[in-house]
Amino acid sequence: MIWRFHLSLLVALVQVSTIAALTSGQDFPALKALKDAWENVPANWVGADPCGDGWDGVSCTNNRIVSITLASTGLSGQLTSDIGGLSELLILDLSYNKGLTGSLPSFENLKKLTSLILVGCGFSGPIPPSVGSLQKLVFLSLNSNNFIGGIPPSIGHLSNLYWLDLADNKLSGTIPVSNATSPGLDMLVGTKHFHFGNNQLSGEIPSQLFSSNMTLIHVLFENNQLTGRIPSTLGLVRSLEVLRLDKNALNGSVSANFSNLTRVQELFLANNRLTGPLPDLSGLNVLSYVDVSNNSFDATDIPPWFSSLQSLNSLIMDKTQIQGQLPVSLFSLSQLQIVSLKNNRINGTLNIGADYSRQLQLIDLQNNFVDAFTQRAGYNIQIVLVGNPICEEGTRDAYCSITQQSFNNSYSTPAENCVPPLCASDQISSPKCKCAYPYTGTLVFRAPSFSFGNSSVYNSLEQKLMVTFQSRSLPVDSVFLSNPTKNLDNYLELSLQVFPSGQDYFNRSGISGIGFILSNQTFKPPREFGPFYFIGNSYAFFPGLSADRSHKSLNNKVIIGAAVGGAVIVLLLLIAGVYAFRHRRRAEMATQKSDPFASWEKNKDSGGVPQIKGAKCFSFEELQKSTNNFSEANEIGGGGYGKVYRGTLPNGQLVAVKRARQGSIHGGQEFKSEIELLSRVHHKNVVSLEGFCFEQGEQLLVYEYIANGTLRDSLSGKIGIRLDWTRRLRIALGAAKGVQYLHDLANPPIIHRDIKSNNILLDDRLNAKVTDFGLSKPMDESQKGHVTTQVKGTMGYLDPEYYMTQQLTEKSDVYSFGVLLLELITARTPIERGRYIVREVKVAMDVSKDMYGLQDILDPIIASSMPERSAEKFVDLSLRCVHESGYNRPTMSEVVKELENIMALCGLNPNAESASSSASYGVNRGYDHPYSNESLVSYSAGYLPTRLEPK
Ligand SMILES: *[C@@H]1O[C@H](CO)[C@@H](O)[C@H](O)[C@H]1NC(C)=O
Ligand SMILES: *[C@@H]1O[C@H](CO)[C@@H](O)[C@H](O)[C@H]1NC(C)=O
Repeated sequence: MIWRFHLSLLVALVQVSTIAALTSGQDFPALKALKDAWENVPANWVGADPCGDGWDGVSCTNNRIVSITLASTGLSGQLTSDIGGLSELLILDLSYNKGLTGSLPSFENLKKLTSLILVGCGFSGPIPPSVGSLQKLVFLSLNSNNFIGGIPPSIGHLSNLYWLDLADNKLSGTIPVSNATSPGLDMLVGTKHFHFGNNQLSGEIPSQLFSSNMTLIHVLFENNQLTGRIPSTLGLVRSLEVLRLDKNALNGSVSANFSNLTRVQELFLANNRLTGPLPDLSGLNVLSYVDVSNNSFDATDIPPWFSSLQSLNSLIMDKTQIQGQLPVSLFSLSQLQIVSLKNNRINGTLNIGADYSRQLQLIDLQNNFVDAFTQRAGYNIQIVLVGNPICEEGTRDAYCSITQQSFNNSYSTPAENCVPPLCASDQISSPKCKCAYPYTGTLVFRAPSFSFGNSSVYNSLEQKLMVTFQSRSLPVDSVFLSNPTKNLDNYLELSLQVFPSGQDYFNRSGISGIGFILSNQTFKPPREFGPFYFIGNSYAFFPGLSADRSHKSLNNKVIIGAAVGGAVIVLLLLIAGVYAFRHRRRAEMATQKSDPFASWEKNKDSGGVPQIKGAKCFSFEELQKSTNNFSEANEIGGGGYGKVYRGTLPNGQLVAVKRARQGSIHGGQEFKSEIELLSRVHHKNVVSLEGFCFEQGEQLLVYEYIANGTLRDSLSGKIGIRLDWTRRLRIALGAAKGVQYLHDLANPPIIHRDIKSNNILLDDRLNAKVTDFGLSKPMDESQKGHVTTQVKGTMGYLDPEYYMTQQLTEKSDVYSFGVLLLELITARTPIERGRYIVREVKVAMDVSKDMYGLQDILDPIIASSMPERSAEKFVDLSLRCVHESGYNRPTMSEVVKELENIMALCGLNPNAESASSSASYGVNRGYDHPYSNESLVSYSAGYLPTRLEPK
């Protein structure tokens, strides 16, 4: 009762102190009401003085709240009409808080608001017409929510509006224009951006919408249900730079005079029902991206502007009825990357000339009438002529197959001349090789002006991001971009990780500052990226997050006060608690001695004793002893999950002991299923589990000891093992057999999910053994060939199909295995200095040359000793494994067969290997040592399974 007394006294004190607070008495109650309606507000939102106490995300001027910016902070709840009380508010940015739901309140009272930014939240209901009364509004960004209903005509009153983004919602109805009684969007003559894509807008695009007074630069209406003609008034908006009208139901002939639009850089009219003559694009000298595919234009000869658009990068005109022979001059446009003219009537000879653009990557002329092709030596262009007369006589030239379509938009920011450290499991190494918790999200570019980004393009984006963050004094150390992909809407998506400087995490003001720069378009990407938006993930690494998870947590001041007052009681309780704990602990230890699985049962979520065949349950003391108390000298590897030690069991057997780091301990259930899985696999090409230990809060796995470490270490030359071509073939075959066993013979079948050179170990006879089942998934019959699961794996080995669909199949392992095969012949890591091995090989490959012209890419150690035919077959097999579609990849048993064929070609006996591997079971049958003495290194690297787990 002393306790209660103190509490009420303190509460009274706190209330008294509000009188002295700086924050205006009008603003605090409004913000307090909002705070009460929200979960996960910042930890320092306590007290009654947001301005004086510097609440995160809140800024004040003259003790009035002028901005609330809380991007990506995990807020949830509703935005109530209390916001109306903050009458001095200039900026409201609550972007990237998916948990904010419900309809928007009326904003009428926020007369000074300039930025209303609610990107990527979960808001629904109609957009309140009252936004039209926010006369000062400059930014209105409501994109990527679930808004329904029409675009309020009242928005037409916002004469200061610069940015209007309503994209990615469920808006319907027509685009409003003004009449005698009602305002409309045609009044927005100063607005630069109309972003309405991915909604359900219908009706005609009103011709009144556009006029010569307008200053629009981006008109993005893609993927709606707009009908009727493209209004000719569009040609009056000379400021226009990007026009997207694709994926609608527009019809009629295009009457807009495009030749007036001399600033247009990107033009998308594809997937409509346009008729009449092909639009005339001559004179559009800065046009770089054109896609007018899939319309019903009149049959037209190839127009002269094809070869005169000096900035042209991507010419995409599939199914547009154009006919005739392609002019050689088209290919000499210096920026040209892609020409896609599928399903037309192109005829005659395809000749790219000697002077073709060095940027050129793809010429796709599927289903045309081309009957001759003038080949050039040494070009790196993917050419597709399937469905043309030239491919009809069963020719097997590369250009007659589409199987080589490549996933060639790969990029990730390279490390800056440093060696990435091993980071704790949830940390990630930055480009500057520091472990930290980055802020992550996706940058989406709605109309990039290129088809294939190269590293210099992405570098310029990284630099621009850094300059922007630094100029705003944000604590950013570096940025990491990866995984560029074009989605179905032709948007370019890039994952972004922003790393903190000074410490290994961001605080709330850091996150909301970065979020704001990306949500309110302060950041301007380099021109070729075009208009963008960003969707941030909520940031889970704020200091003291557990405390502010519940917004109802006690006021700090109260807790401190109470703690002082109640110290005596607390101390007494503590003493009692410690005593009880010790007592229980002693009792527990006694039970553990008699029952090795006791700790399993005590552990709430672990669900019973594991079903284990042949794996021993070790005590912690036993393993401590075998590794000399986990001494540094016995450390043979480590990763995010913890460390690996060499141990010697009392019978002299060497083992590798993997000890989970405190903090990366799995749930008991997860640990148990890993053990059960491992104890069921027995194959000479799979590392076997000897036992485990789950005691004293520790999780340890005991494996057979594999002397020569990882395949990666050997390939890197770090540990002095020389892998010649024969050895590499044997390793490939061994590893393939291990994976095949998991797919075909293990019961239930297992998808490994993390096949990579770091997870292939080499024993003392260089037999390959597959290891690390931390990500593996058993697959039962009912799952019909795939499991839908969160994407995990290692960058560079990740199956792009799995990445995009989240459907995991055995073919995802085949993809990773294909990357591993490429690694074997090139000795390069899959992503080296931002270059992706799969793309490098595909680009460099020229089937008309010896060794496919790959000599420069092959590991020099083997390049000279590889019999040509076997090398080519090996490359063919690798590329089949990394085929974009899982369906077209071979199964692992087909891979095994093909590798055996390749060995036979080299005069090797593929089965000889099994004799040698018996040695790893301790039975030497007198088989000749498979490698010479000079490479017999006693030095053991153990293994280093590091792993990246993309979210
Ligand atoms: C190509 O098609 C055009 C138009 O259909 C025709 O005039 C021309 O003769 C054809 N050329 C060849 C080489 O077949
Ligand atoms: C990268 O692309 C840009 C524009 O798309 C081009 O100007 C530049 O030359 C390219 N750089 C390389 C190295 O290909």
